[in-house]
Order: sequence, then structure tokens, then C-alpha cells
Amino acid sequence: METVNFKGRDFLTLLDYTPEEIQALLDIAAELKDKKKKGIVHDVHRGKNIVLIFEKTSTRTRCSFEVAAHDLGIGTTYLDPSGSQIGKKESIADTARVLGRMYDGIEYRGYEQKKVETLAHFAEVPVWNGLTNEYHPTQILADFLTIREHFGRLKGINFVYMGDARYNMGNSLMIGCAKMGLNFTACAPKEYFPDAELISRCQTFAAQSGSQLRFIEDPMEATRGADVIYTDVWVSMGEPVEVWEERINALSPYQVNSALMDNAGENAVFMHCLPAYHDRMTAVGKEIGERFGRDAMEVTDEVFESPRSIVFDEAENRMHTIKAIIYATL
Ligand code: CP
Ligand code: NVA
Repeated sequence: METVNFKGRDFLTLLDYTPEEIQALLDIAAELKDKKKKGIVHDVHRGKNIVLIFEKTSTRTRCSFEVAAHDLGIGTTYLDPSGSQIGKKESIADTARVLGRMYDGIEYRGYEQKKVETLAHFAEVPVWNGLTNEYHPTQILADFLTIREHFGRLKGINFVYMGDARYNMGNSLMIGCAKMGLNFTACAPKEYFPDAELISRCQTFAAQSGSQLRFIEDPMEATRGADVIYTDVWVSMGEPVEVWEERINALSPYQVNSALMDNAGENAVFMHCLPAYHDRMTAVGKEIGERFGRDAMEVTDEVFESPRSIVFDEAENRMHTIKAIIYATL
């Protein structure tokens, strides 16, 4: 199944992976997905163990790692945001050296990218980034597998990211698109565009893949001709609740609604890494919604629930792509 050797590699950011390697991981994911659908057992890593460190909460990423590991025959230990010594009584470097002696791989979700890099430096086993403030690389593999399944290709797809483009999702999607030849547009007020240095690195990848990168403030201009309109929450995990007001003021014009989807064209799809504030059916959605008199934040319920929304295919693919990473690197 494998054309590239990934054994022992960390998976910290897509910056470390070539387009050919990303392509190979997507191919492995597609094969593993097919096996799973056909009920073909693929517990090729029987007897191994991995540890899942979550300093921030999760539904999709945690469950994907657990189910993927189980399907591959691997045992898991979940360390929740309060259930270990990490950061409070024990440094990342010491934790890495302890867990590296017991486990065959380590997943880490937390704050600064520096931490997952330190973990990878000190642990002698593969370390996988399950989300940091800066990057969310496993999500991008799921997104790209979903786009490939839907459109039959990645190259030349017009991908538009609406909203806070300077955080983990905007950064990682820009890197992924630039490497894999999707045209990437960040649409936001200019203060929310990705970091200039990262843009410049991505311009180099884009020159090689044929991707075009655009940074546009006007939503109608940005979404015209889009194949994929993607958004993420306006306030990310770990950010203070006080920033909601500033985000709502700045990003409301960038909410994904039916007018934007219609502007894109009839074949355009809606994507979101999830969780999403598309109604008031959550504690935060209700509280912030009532405070600011809004029914939804980054996407309207109408778009979220429409046939153009492929968010649950995307969520399912988290598991198949995370499985591909574990499968290939152990
Ligand atoms: N998309 C994503 O990472 O979801 P979780 O926060 O539920 O893991
Ligand atoms: N930007 C979001 C992504 C969640 C998957 C966050 O960091 O909370």
C-alpha cells in the first residue's frame, strides 16, 4: 500500500511534508477507508500502544485516534486536559522521555507549536500534532480526502477560507493548498490575514504546484467561482471569552450564508472543521447568541444544513486520515 517510507516520522506540520508525501498519505487513507467499508480487518500494528495527550478538549480528533488505533490493533491511553502532570509538575521534555519509553507513538493537542516540537525532539517515537494554536495538520488531510472524493481532484480547485485566517486552520489550509495545487483565497479583514512570513513560504510552494494565493477583503469578490467555501469558529479554544465582541464586529460580514454560496456557483460546497456555531443549540452558541442578538456565528444554519454542506463526510474522514498517519509512521 505504501510507496513512501514514513516509519518513525513525526507529523507536526504540513511544512515538513512534500506534496508527494501528502498525496501518498491520502492514498493510504483511501485504501484504509475502503478496507473498513468492506469489513476487511487491518490490525497490522497489533500489540503496539499509543498515548493521546489533550491539553485542549476534543470530540473528532480524540475519537479518530481511538477508533483508528483500535482498528489497527493498537492500545490507547487518553490523558485529558487535567488528568496528568504535564506542564504543572513535569516539563514537556521530561514527559516526552517518560512516554517515549512506554509507547510506540504520542499524539499531542495543546497550545504553542513549540511544545509539540519539544515533545518530538525528546521522544524517540513518532509524535503527531492533534492541533496547536498555529497548525492543525491532521484536519487538512481529512479536508483534502473529502475534496478529492467530491470533485475527483485537488489541483485547480478554487478554495476560499472565510474568517480568522491567521490561526491554526487558516495557516494549515494555506500550506496544504499551496503544496497540493489548490488555489487558496483568504477572505477576511486584512488584520486577520496569515502571517507575512508564512505567506512568503507558501508562495514558494505555490510557484511549484501551480497554486495561486489571494488575500481579499471583499466577500463577494473572494467567493466568485469558488468550489469550496470553508470557515472555522471566530474564537478558538484557549482564547478569552472577551474577544467575542471584537470578532463579531470584525468577522460578521464574512459569515458564510446563502448569498455567498449562490455567488460561488451551483457546484460549490461548504466545509468546516467543526465544531460550528450555526445555531443556539450549544451552551456557548446560546449565551453569545443571546448577548449579541445572533442566531448563528460563522455559518448560517441554512447553509450548514443544506445539501451543499459536506461537513459530516469531512468529519468521518478525520478517522480514515488519522489512521493513515498512524499506520504509516509506526
Ligand atoms: N475538528 C476538530 O479538530 O474537532 P475536535 O476539536 O472535536 O477534535
Ligand atoms: N480554530 C479552532 C479549530 C478547532 C478544530 C480552534 O483552535 O479551536
